[in-house]
Amino acid sequence: MSAPSAQGGKFGSRMGFIFAAAGSAIGLGNIWRFPYTTGEYGGAAFVLVYIGFVVLIGVPVLLAELSIGRASGKNPVGAFAALDPGEKKRWSLVGGLGVLTGFGILSFYAVIAGWTVSFLIRALSGTFAGGMTPEQSGELFTDIIASPGETVGMSAVFLLLTALVVRGGVSGGIERAAKILMPVFFLMLVILAGRAVTLPGADAGLRFLFAPDFSKLTPAGVMSALGQALFSLSLGMGAMITYGSYLQKKERLPVAGISVAIFDTLIAILAGLIIFPALFSAGATGAKGPGLVFVVMPAIFDKLPAGQAFGVAFYALLAVAALTSTMSLLEVVVAYFVGQRGWSREKAVWVVSGACFLMAVPSALSQGAVDGLGADVLGESFLDIMNILWGNVALGLGALLIAVFAGWRWGVNKAVEEMGGMPGGALWGIAVKYVCPIGIAVIMIYSLVNWEFL
Ligand code: PHE
Repeated sequence: MSAPSAQGGKFGSRMGFIFAAAGSAIGLGNIWRFPYTTGEYGGAAFVLVYIGFVVLIGVPVLLAELSIGRASGKNPVGAFAALDPGEKKRWSLVGGLGVLTGFGILSFYAVIAGWTVSFLIRALSGTFAGGMTPEQSGELFTDIIASPGETVGMSAVFLLLTALVVRGGVSGGIERAAKILMPVFFLMLVILAGRAVTLPGADAGLRFLFAPDFSKLTPAGVMSALGQALFSLSLGMGAMITYGSYLQKKERLPVAGISVAIFDTLIAILAGLIIFPALFSAGATGAKGPGLVFVVMPAIFDKLPAGQAFGVAFYALLAVAALTSTMSLLEVVVAYFVGQRGWSREKAVWVVSGACFLMAVPSALSQGAVDGLGADVLGESFLDIMNILWGNVALGLGALLIAVFAGWRWGVNKAVEEMGGMPGGALWGIAVKYVCPIGIAVIMIYSLVNWEFL
């Protein structure tokens, strides 16, 4: 059992946990990353493969992480060490990889989260009032991301906010915030999607999202769909191990895990239902890449009554959704330093977020502010490289190792027992023993050999 005072305590209720875990899962991955990768890899076919991965790989790995976390009651490194039957505890290295990955993801995620704050400020000051064409919002976006002071400053602001919440511990900060704000965000997305799909010309966007053309699917697309499924569910780096460790023994893991996966996937699809109809309706089919949501959203606000207020609420809630995700990223690294290294929570929070800020600077400056960090020199911008390296490759490797550990090392029986004996236990066993490891290995080896992940 973890010491509540050192590790932040236990979740007070099942709903508190579901909201916090869903809060970790739901974030920029759904609203920013899902639409633009879907756009990049051809639409509906990519979406189908992504959903397939959520079911076949995401849900099994999610349940594996939650049970590893709760059975051990520890941070990822301590969790593998506690459950590894071997003398040398080599599997704790998987936890170590997870901690490193969490740090890597946080370093670029904070930059994108900073962009949402920049847009929130613009929305508050009325920049979007009166409507904006995609060309205008595209220019605004390019200006913002190329401004060194603004991007570096906003990343710092975001990391600071994250640090302040994580310092408060689990039930204090995370649970309370997530409980209120996630449902509000969901409602808002439903309204926005309702408006987007009734725009003139929206049907082209719906076709892009739902009518698959498998000839557009490339091996790189398959790798990205896997990466996206893991990224979106916060899997492969121990976030769900850490949250599982704060979960009380009486909660039933499968119910909690599957609810989180359903919510998360729904929100990604909802984001697609907003972005693509709005994009095609505005005739801006050329808008793509990491700027996609930022360029498309301003076009839709003035199509709504009280559009300006809507814009403000959208960016505010998106920033909050990002915050509940950065909290979980920082929490993993902090839990490691507190649990394994004996640091105080306070010290861990400030040292880790400070170091993460330094890592965030090159990502923040790689979007046009500083020559040499962009795609012209590196092939992909520094931020994109971090995104692919940590967000796809490292998560894939982590998820593979977690599945192998649960299936072969710790053992299916012990895990299923921890889950409270679930009806589909045997199926889950097959998934973690065979489907996940083989599936992930084949996809990763193929795309690495072809150097296609870039
Ligand atoms: N799942 C989060 C999102 O979709 C990102 C994340 C990845 C959070 C990995 C924690 C761990 O935005």
